Amino acid sequence: MKDNNRKSKRNQTGSNDELVNLVNNVNRKEDLDLNRRAFLKATAGASVALGLATIPFSVHAMIGDFEDKENRVGIVKLSELPKGSSITFNYPTDHDPALLVHTKSGELKAYNSACTHLMCPVFYEKEEEVLLCPCHKGYFELNNGQPLAGPPQRELPLIETEVTNGIVYAVDRRYRHG
Ligand code: FES
Repeated sequence: MKDNNRKSKRNQTGSNDELVNLVNNVNRKEDLDLNRRAFLKATAGASVALGLATIPFSVHAMIGDFEDKENRVGIVKLSELPKGSSITFNYPTDHDPALLVHTKSGELKAYNSACTHLMCPVFYEKEEEVLLCPCHKGYFELNNGQPLAGPPQRELPLIETEVTNGIVYAVDRRYRHG
């Protein structure tokens, strides 16, 4: 009789343990499922965020040409800029000073006019047809903006222009290194 009681107790204990184990296993499985779901959600979220972050670059690459057109800024009527004269303007933003020169031979040359040495404004020097920075006597080639003499080591950023219906427009800016 004692044996039977012990057996049934053992069985009871055994079945309690099994139940606890079963519940533990179910909980562990749920935890694993939750962790897996959380991981998948986090991964998907990160992918979407990365994708969104790269959209501007893709769009920029696709519509670069159109964007240049939107950067088109009117500078002056060509008739108001005689040969051998210059005019200042800002491009591509209001904080980027620039200089347009109508050369003696009739060409249009435009550059950002902040000296590449210490940012002083550069001027058109008509007699010698060069660009001059008076701060430390830096000279730049009028034809290509390359440094000629003095402290500047880098060329001036080139601004491309075009003339439509007698108006000179700035249409793009080019950095040329080397
Ligand atoms: S800032 Fe132009 S030469 Fe120094």
